Amino acid sequence: MKRILYEDLETALKAREAKIAVLGQGYIGLPTSLLMARAGFTVYGFDVNRNLIDELSRGETRLKQEKGIAELLDDLKERNYFPTEDLSELYESDVVLIAVPTPKGRDGPNLSMVLSALESALKVVRRGGLIVIESTLPPGTFYDLIIPTVESSGLEVGKDIYLAYCPERALPGKLLQELVQNFRIIGVVDEKSGILAKTLYESFVEGGIEIVDPLTAEMVKLVENSYRDVNIAFANEVARMCEVLGVDVRKVRELANKHPRVNMLIPGIGVGGSCLTKDPWFLFWASQERGYRPNLIKRARELNAEMPFHYAGILDELVRQLRGGRSGVIAVLGSTYKGDVPDPRESPVEPFVKELVKRGHAVKVYDPLVRSSFGGEYVPDISEAVKDADSIAFVTDHTEFKMLDLRKLRKAVKKDGPVILFDGRLLFEPEEAEEAGFIYISVGRPYTILERSLVTIED
Ligand SMILES: NC(=O)c1ccc[n+]([C@@H]2O[C@H](COP(=O)([O-])OP(=O)(O)OC[C@H]3O[C@@H](n4cnc5c(N)ncnc54)[C@H](O)[C@@H]3O)[C@@H](O)[C@H]2O)c1
Repeated sequence: MKRILYEDLETALKAREAKIAVLGQGYIGLPTSLLMARAGFTVYGFDVNRNLIDELSRGETRLKQEKGIAELLDDLKERNYFPTEDLSELYESDVVLIAVPTPKGRDGPNLSMVLSALESALKVVRRGGLIVIESTLPPGTFYDLIIPTVESSGLEVGKDIYLAYCPERALPGKLLQELVQNFRIIGVVDEKSGILAKTLYESFVEGGIEIVDPLTAEMVKLVENSYRDVNIAFANEVARMCEVLGVDVRKVRELANKHPRVNMLIPGIGVGGSCLTKDPWFLFWASQERGYRPNLIKRARELNAEMPFHYAGILDELVRQLRGGRSGVIAVLGSTYKGDVPDPRESPVEPFVKELVKRGHAVKVYDPLVRSSFGGEYVPDISEAVKDADSIAFVTDHTEFKMLDLRKLRKAVKKDGPVILFDGRLLFEPEEAEEAGFIYISVGRPYTILERSLVTIED
């Protein structure tokens, strides 16, 4: 067999003539495949999910709300991009990129899919080829698990095979834009792997690239998300304090943020998304195992996870108070984890809805971007969703909701009697909601005071 030299691969990458296999065609793998195909490479998009590959082969994508993806798929399919579930089509790939899930297990990360994909990568990559892992790795995984797995197949990293970790940090809703514009970090243990990986990413990344050791790359990815989680938790902690102390968090935040060195985030009913809800745990477990327990990160994660239950409990209590102890109809507006982002994964709306359903309420869910309803009833029209509502809960900060005329919304409720507007994302001013005819409650506002002003309807 022809021995392919390192220089050959660098030349092939520069000329964009390499054969690339991408394992995993989800949120990250598909757009990354398409960007490399657009850059001129021949890209095989492999996935173990046959339905997904069938759809892609027909030119259909589950990411149609992501700007530009459907068009790129249409343009590149069967030209530079080939979706497949047949591993044999990937044989002798010059580059294999791994973008499979790394979910959180009960007490630790679940790396089974990464290891299984790595096994596939080792079968299909050519000798002297490059393997890049984009899936999130807990700190220490590259050194302790990835390199030993690769070398146990008889290949020496930096000589027979090149290996890099390039953690992905793109935001659903802006995937193509961020995959191109974000600054990239690439973790490697040898210089040649760094040069090859950088050459590959330079074909489509415009935001800059820095080569570091893999442990630093693993840490950076997780620190970024933990930073966000801790900062949101701080805002949520202030909101919870305001509720019991009798202050409105809006005013507190507004005035505190006038200080030149304060930038408090907006509190809300919780934090979601596939990364923010697991990355702090990856950091926590890895550090704890090695002797330091990062309690701040743990407590922040727990606090954020408690938020949807806390507000479901309050809403349950207030609706029952309003209805003489009976459960009611609650319209939940929004199901994605973030405004204008078409991704419902790990959304805090899920536990919020489930808790309300568990407590006996009829929950109707409307979201303009996705159809997830988490055990509530999905209603595709906002007027229909609120028609019989005793309460309307805003739980996602979609632009569509911020633009709503609350007077019109109040009129869309056809049921007699008071209606509670629960503002889980601080989208409205209390006065505006009250003038429209709602009983207004929100995150970070002393609901106990409002409780007293509620009109109780007896049977
Ligand atoms: N989605 C995001 O916003 C985001 C952002 C940054 C980082 N990440 C990370 O990127 C990685 C991928 O996430 P995603 O959101 O694209 O996941 P996803 O669930 O959207 O897609 C992963 C795909 O991998 C496939 N798969 C599973 N095992 C496989 C295997 N052995 N071989 C081939 N395919 C396999 C699945 O069928 C699925 O289609 C994860 O580690 C995640 O933490 C995701």
